Amino acid sequence: MNVDVLLVGGGNMGRGYLTAVRRLGLRAALLETPDRVEALLREFGDVIVAHASLDSAVTDQDEAWVGPAVGLAARTRPRGVLAFSEPHVLAAALVAEARGLPGPGLHATQVSRNKALQRQLYGASGIPQPHSRLVERLDEADRPDFPVVVKPLSSFGSRGVEQVKDAQGWAEAVARRAGGGPYLVEEYATGTEYSWEALVRGGKALFGNLTVKTTTGPPSFVELQHVPSGGPAGAEHRSRAMRLGAEVIEAMRMRDGLIHLEFRIAPDGRMAVMEAAVRTPGCFIMDVVSRAHGIDLYEACLRLALGDEPELPAEGAPFRHTASMFLAAERLGEVVPEDTAALDAVPGVFRSGLRQEPGTVMNPPESNADRMAFALLDLPTETALKDALRAARAAFAASSPIPPERAEIA
Ligand SMILES: Nc1ncnc2c1ncn2[C@@H]1O[C@H](COP(=O)(O)OP(=O)(O)OP(=O)(O)O)[C@@H](O)[C@H]1O
Ligand SMILES: [Mg+2]
Repeated sequence: MNVDVLLVGGGNMGRGYLTAVRRLGLRAALLETPDRVEALLREFGDVIVAHASLDSAVTDQDEAWVGPAVGLAARTRPRGVLAFSEPHVLAAALVAEARGLPGPGLHATQVSRNKALQRQLYGASGIPQPHSRLVERLDEADRPDFPVVVKPLSSFGSRGVEQVKDAQGWAEAVARRAGGGPYLVEEYATGTEYSWEALVRGGKALFGNLTVKTTTGPPSFVELQHVPSGGPAGAEHRSRAMRLGAEVIEAMRMRDGLIHLEFRIAPDGRMAVMEAAVRTPGCFIMDVVSRAHGIDLYEACLRLALGDEPELPAEGAPFRHTASMFLAAERLGEVVPEDTAALDAVPGVFRSGLRQEPGTVMNPPESNADRMAFALLDLPTETALKDALRAARAAFAASSPIPPERAEIA
């Protein structure tokens, strides 16, 4: 059997890739967990012509995806391979390398998966970034200059990322993380946070978008909002992001595909790279960036994976004002299904949904997994978008009362 593309991982947000496969009249092979294979087959049975599944107990491990991906590739001889999220990129890169297919390349993939490798290579290339130290155990590090950020090397979704602001917090982190490690202990970089999503072909960015990111801030930086229109200093910051992105692409030796770069710009204009990853960004960033530019980033990635040059807008500025927003409990709160109706009634909301089972009682979030609901917005002006974002937050809070009888659970 021959397929056009092997999808290593598909998740929820991978639907965009399968929709593009269908639109282009192609055939896909899919590797996912058994429940996801089943769900995606129900929706895309016409384009998924081969599939394999792996044990869902080990899906966070890169290694678990490699054997099944190599096996499925041998069976389906794809002309392209696409990784979905973080644990999938290594398996896809190994398949690409072995079969001579386009992709980010093993160098970029390894670097992408390991923040300590990134710190070392970016440092060697003079790319601006926070000072950081690699330690096996936190108690072996000298007491740092606070605040610092402690993080594992290869996790994602802000899991295990924590700001420590004083000696007491440090003692607690040392005790709590005993036996964990290795960790990076980083200088805390201040400033507005951005991401840059770029499509790369032969090591050159064909397209890049600057997205402003809002989080809950310290200590755990849960992502609340992504706005792809680049913020008030739009054009200037966009071109600075392009230059920074080009340096990172070179340091990673990335060849073809999608890069998701995260950095901050301090009030004095200094940039600091948080990390870069050669994978699909989360938080519906693909959907809102696509809409902002009137393109389909999923299709563009698919074309890159097949070795083709996607058609992309020459100018970098988006023409629609879009956003993805996430709603989390400010205090103890219960997830109620009516929330999505309230969100859908806000002008410009084109998709919304719950992230938890209705009835779940949530504390204020400690990681992205604790968010309660999301909404995607698309409006013609910046002012209209700001108003709609405010209205969506208010609509959600109003329909998600905190049950007082459960308050002692907090
Ligand atoms: N050195 C730092 N200085 C300031 N903030 C930081 C630093 N490192 C991380 N952060 C904050 O923590 C967030 C998560 O960190 P990081 O991106 O390294 O982890 P992650 O698990 O890969 O997260 P994700 O998968 O959500 O991107 C960053 O987006 C940023 O808000
Ligand atoms: Mg990150």
